[in-house]
Amino acid sequence: MSSAQNGVVRLADYVAPAWRVDEVELEFDLGISVTQVRARLHLRRSGVTPQALVLDGAGLQLQAIRVDGRELADTQYTLDETSLRIEQLPAVCVLETLALIDPAANSALSGLYLSGSAEHGFLLTQCEAEGFRRITWYPDRPDVLAKFHVLLRADRQRFPVLLANGNPAGSGELEDGRHWVAWVDPHPKPCYLFALVAGRLEKIEQEYRTADGRAVMLRIFAEGDAIARCGYAMDALVRAMRWDEQQYGCNYDLDVFHIVATHDFNMGAMENKGLNIFNAKYLLADPQHSSDDDYAHVEAIVAHEYFHNWTGNRVTCRDWFQLSLKEGLTVYREQQFSADMNSATLKRIEDVQILRRSQFIEDAGPLAHPVRPEQYSAIDNFYTATVYDKGAELVRMIAGRLGAAAWRRGMDEYFLRHDGEAATVEQFLAALGSADGSDLSPYLRWYAQAGTPQLQARGEYDAAQRCYRLDLQQHTPATPGQPHKQALPIPLRLALLGDDGKALPLRLHDSADAPGERVLEFDSDRARFEFQDIDAPRVASLLRGFSAPVRLDAGLGAADLAFLLRFESDGFNRWEAAQQLARLAFAGCLAGAPVVPELGTWCDTLAELFPQAALDPALLAELLTPPELNDLAQSCDPLDPAAAHTAREALEQALAQRLGANALRARHAQLLQAERGDLDGAARARRRLLNRCLRLWLRVEPIAAAAMAAQRYAEAPAMTERLACLAALLAAGAEQAQPALDDFACRYDADPVTLDKWFVLQAQAPRSDTVERVAALMAHPRFSLRNPNRVSALLQNFAVRNLPAFHRPDGAGYVLIEQALAQIDALNPTTAARLATALKDWARLEPARRRLLQASLQRLVRRDSSQDLADILRRTLG
Ligand code: PHE
Ligand code: ZN
Repeated sequence: MSSAQNGVVRLADYVAPAWRVDEVELEFDLGISVTQVRARLHLRRSGVTPQALVLDGAGLQLQAIRVDGRELADTQYTLDETSLRIEQLPAVCVLETLALIDPAANSALSGLYLSGSAEHGFLLTQCEAEGFRRITWYPDRPDVLAKFHVLLRADRQRFPVLLANGNPAGSGELEDGRHWVAWVDPHPKPCYLFALVAGRLEKIEQEYRTADGRAVMLRIFAEGDAIARCGYAMDALVRAMRWDEQQYGCNYDLDVFHIVATHDFNMGAMENKGLNIFNAKYLLADPQHSSDDDYAHVEAIVAHEYFHNWTGNRVTCRDWFQLSLKEGLTVYREQQFSADMNSATLKRIEDVQILRRSQFIEDAGPLAHPVRPEQYSAIDNFYTATVYDKGAELVRMIAGRLGAAAWRRGMDEYFLRHDGEAATVEQFLAALGSADGSDLSPYLRWYAQAGTPQLQARGEYDAAQRCYRLDLQQHTPATPGQPHKQALPIPLRLALLGDDGKALPLRLHDSADAPGERVLEFDSDRARFEFQDIDAPRVASLLRGFSAPVRLDAGLGAADLAFLLRFESDGFNRWEAAQQLARLAFAGCLAGAPVVPELGTWCDTLAELFPQAALDPALLAELLTPPELNDLAQSCDPLDPAAAHTAREALEQALAQRLGANALRARHAQLLQAERGDLDGAARARRRLLNRCLRLWLRVEPIAAAAMAAQRYAEAPAMTERLACLAALLAAGAEQAQPALDDFACRYDADPVTLDKWFVLQAQAPRSDTVERVAALMAHPRFSLRNPNRVSALLQNFAVRNLPAFHRPDGAGYVLIEQALAQIDALNPTTAARLATALKDWARLEPARRRLLQASLQRLVRRDSSQDLADILRRTLG
């Protein structure tokens, strides 16, 4: 795969590997700046005809090379920057190589690298997608599955803990204070799932017995005091393991399961077989350092990585085009798990928010790509919201189409057919469909076609016929490389609501049953559905639960939306009605209309709901929150970020005024009194509303509310409080914000994960000098361009989550990111490429900003950059 033409790899060019690796023995002599890797590959040629062996390798220094024990002469192999090639080999043989690598010099954090300082840090690996080639020469592709034997040797004092995948297989002493530990992973795996960890680490452990009777030791490792913050992750892990047994019949399959936390990581976490490695941000949790949202992330990501053990590891991907086969499916499984553990409605709302503010934007811009891309030049750039989150939506549609029982049978069949294999999306759909004989292949179009479908729905009641007609149309806008789109199968979950808000019995012309809710399968450009024997509905509630990842235009006016907001029983659609109403209000404010009736309706309806005690406080908090700016900005063409920000502010201000200082103050006081810092769902839900009330109250009674926020900040029993109050003070521009910020920095100076929050808050501050402040923070002693979490906290947040500041009319925000990108790229291409995606929407901006951002992009593109960054820049400029 790596030998693709001009660096572009195409799905259509897939060829099965010419050589298989049955077993691999790896021996590491570990050192911070010199590590020696001995690899013995037990090779077997796939076909009968002789084939050259071509292995991937990058940044390796060759020390020795032998075939079946005999040293190869220089003429018997070809070695270059990216590969090792041997022409003549027996059809079955053992290739042994000896390589030297320098982990301390590895700032890209791919392959074997050092986390922390040379003195105190530890060594670890990251191999997905193509990091294993930085460790040894190997067919670095996911369809080569081998059994791994690993032997680790290192100084006992410096590296007391030596971990790899699989089960422990012995350990012992060596001379000179060195020791060894052996590991065997009985499950054949692709090399991207390989991992090792070596260093001084603390641990917690707990025994677990699987449903099928295996005793498993669960361990979590972290540096120093951080280990005291791993208990919640352990708890989440145990719940995830039970849940997967109960919901999918998936039992864990090794004697140990290990998780390690690091502060130096390019992504969220990694599902290496039996040895998950986590960005500390998504593993550590305690009330003093972690907010309610952090807890939710830890629970979700621990579960996600654990679920990969079956969806990803036991059944892996044939090639990287199939990435969503493991990621979309595993995100979906995590969503189901989180929904079961918490509020299903809230989880759905949050997932759709994420989808809209990242995936929909991606799908509408220059970086749009199908869930299963057709080609790539840098695979690292395809760990995207589309592959993950839209991919999960596709799985959700398919699961919904099958129904719970057939979905489970289909998944059983998928595991049965493909356990121990590298599979494709086609195979996944075929296995699922076999559960009830359905043909799911029309869903392949969803995998192949980029862009968010637009669904238009118009309903009409025919009183004479007592018939409700629903006319549907779909259209997917063109995306790069895909000018013409096909119609997709769209499951439309709907109900027709009567005057009392209750669903009317629905009978389609061809059926006898009349449930209150139906799912229509709409799979053509346009279609009409007729419901018979029906009283006049008050309104149609469409796309309940967000049954398909589309943009729906239901043509509803403010009065209909207000009705849904009051009466809809589907929690998601109730929230959705509030969102749509807010969108109408936003459009009116943006257009500068002197009176915006939709704004009045939105505020009035929310004011009516606000005192209702029966409403879940977390849902109420979300109802009271208009879509975030990134989401709203998508409807602006061209986009003036400052104007969009002003319009959204007008919404918040109007709502606060309509609810009124008295009501907000009183609700805030009431919720505060109930606040005990508990971590259960009900307490978290109340806190969400408490902090939403604070934000709104600050807008109408700034002096009193800021005093309260400052006091709550000072007395905060836990991080959720502390963070919410500090963020509220900053958002309000209160004078108490700066002292609180200084206090925060003092308190958490030594804790990287928590100090990141301090960088985030300042990056998101709505100030006219935020650019200068961000620039100054880049010189802060705790800031480092080498650390992806820091870069994301300060720079990514600034560029993506602070539109008015980043898009300052003088272009200073663009220049800041432009200059940082050049520096980051020299250290860590993955991180640079991800930050560069923040520039993708340049063409949608109003002309003055567009010219400035385009100029920044053009300067960047003229520089010599990494393949990852070059790929993003090239596609962004189109
Ligand atoms: N596979 C990881 C996940 O679970 C993400 C990841 C990709 C991590 C690449 C590191 C490198 O989503
Ligand atoms: Zn994943």
